[in-house]
Amino acid sequence: MNQFNDSFERCINDPLFLDQFYKTFLASSDEVSAAFKDTDMETQKSMLMASLVYMSDAHPDLLASIAEKHHHIKPHLYTLWLDSLIAAAKFIDPLFDVETEILWRETLQPGIDFMVGEYG
Ligand code: HEM
Repeated sequence: MNQFNDSFERCINDPLFLDQFYKTFLASSDEVSAAFKDTDMETQKSMLMASLVYMSDAHPDLLASIAEKHHHIKPHLYTLWLDSLIAAAKFIDPLFDVETEILWRETLQPGIDFMVGEYG
């Protein structure tokens, strides 16, 4: 798992990472840009930063409180979310390769499955 942690740290230590993520995510679908139309993106970026740490470090209690605020988010949007995050990591981390991508996906998928399981 060190290879994931090292890549994750290179990304979250770069202030451009979350800018890059939201640029890609908001452009990925009209449903996504509509969902964030009234959102202060600077606040959103710091909240996402914290929640990524919970996601990668399995804090089920903290993730449950985030999932409560996402009941209405349709499951297919999580695919766009993860793909946008991977695209941002690829852009920021110079050592990102196919194996790193698999580790990012494997690490974040359980948190996404949990969030999707709370849909409805
Ligand atoms: C596993 C993936 C995701 C994580 C970890 C995550 C995390 C978060 C966090 C921490 C917040 C702030 C909650 C608060 O106000 O306390 C939030 C808000 C929000 N999220 Fe997510 N999110 C995820 C996926 C998504 C997806 C796929 C969408 C689809 C559009 C989405 C849309 C939103 C919206 C609209 C808000 C409210 C923004 C506002 O306050 O105006 N999220 N998310």
